[in-house]
Amino acid sequence: MKRILAAIVLATLAIGYAGVPVSAQENLSAAEHRRLFREGAKLWPVYCNTCHNARPGSEKAPYEWDQIMMHMRTLGNIPPDDANAILVYLKSR
Ligand code: HEC
Repeated sequence: MKRILAAIVLATLAIGYAGVPVSAQENLSAAEHRRLFREGAKLWPVYCNTCHNARPGSEKAPYEWDQIMMHMRTLGNIPPDDANAILVYLKSR
């Protein structure tokens, strides 16, 4: 029984981590951050203007963008790399 519980806990953790590509921005090198910022600046009007006016990054705190992007990424079916770049862009403004 204990082993089964441990397996379930481990599987849950593994799935949890795999599903969160948008997170480790704090550890980015300056060059990588710049690249993602530029990429995000290009993608932001494309994706985020589709269903409503694109909200500027300054409208929300960085921790709020983490949560909002999880939601919008799902709604808009946005690929993880694109969502990550947009998140870097939004959190930098
Ligand atoms: C598929 C349509 C769709 C796309 C694409 C989309 N959104 Fe949204 N967004 C919504 C809907 C619908 C709501 C309001 C209802 C809700 O929260 O589900 C919303 C609400 C929001 C809000 C308001 C949340 C609040 O409480 O103030 C923000 C901010 C936001 N979106 C940002 C974004 C950003 C940034 C993007 C681009 C990455 C984006 N959205 C792309 C559909 C979309």
